[in-house]
Amino acid sequence: AEVIIVSNEDEAGRIYADCTAQLIKSKPDCVLGLATGSSPLAAYKALAAKVKAEGIDVSRVRGFALDEYAGLDPNHPQSYRSTINRTVVEPLGMNPDLVRVPNGNLDTIATAGREYDAAIEAAGGVDLQILGIGTDGHIGFNEPGSSLASGTRIKTLTEQTRIDNARFFEDDVNKVPTHCITQGIGTILKARQLVLLAFGAGKAEAVAETVEGGISSFCPASALQLHPHATVIVDEAAASRLR
Ligand code: F6R
Repeated sequence: AEVIIVSNEDEAGRIYADCTAQLIKSKPDCVLGLATGSSPLAAYKALAAKVKAEGIDVSRVRGFALDEYAGLDPNHPQSYRSTINRTVVEPLGMNPDLVRVPNGNLDTIATAGREYDAAIEAAGGVDLQILGIGTDGHIGFNEPGSSLASGTRIKTLTEQTRIDNARFFEDDVNKVPTHCITQGIGTILKARQLVLLAFGAGKAEAVAETVEGGISSFCPASALQLHPHATVIVDEAAASRLR
């Protein structure tokens, strides 16, 4: 992967925004791969600002989110459906009907993954996928040990990820759902371009494993090494373990 070291999240955000704005102008019905979490927030802000400032038409832009909690009401403020609406769809002014999030409803979750992958394929595939990375090297919710060929499916969240995400659930790890539905690593690798963002010392080890470690399901993000067009944008702290 290409590594770009930036001085802060805003600088990373501007790189993503420039790249995405370019894509939307050249392909007004392009397909954006969307992530939740803290890492992409500055990028979404920068893109929304650029879309407003330049009057870019996003009415036909489509989107597919990476993942969703299982068994959490989509109307819950911390569902990824709500989060994507709040952080991406509304600020950019996208058509919400064109943005899909995996369906975490427990009644249909056994088949929801295959349907989601089929929907991505029917849309022509993801043009540009933004990614964050977990402290354990996960992308989407593909925790260590996930098949590098996996499609969208239900997964169990690790204790570490639930602890990391407790901040969104009143700091109570018991309120964090135990399962999720996530695009697989195989799904993510089908996107035409990947941009992974990581900030802070807590991500340094995972970033080093991703970029310089062996390709292994024990660091799911290391699968980026298999992708012909992957860019990793990090601040100095997240880059501190790179050789
Ligand atoms: C979010 C997702 C996760 C996060 C990762 C990092 O949709 O799939 O892989 O990207 O947990 O989260 P933050 O950015 O909050 O550190």
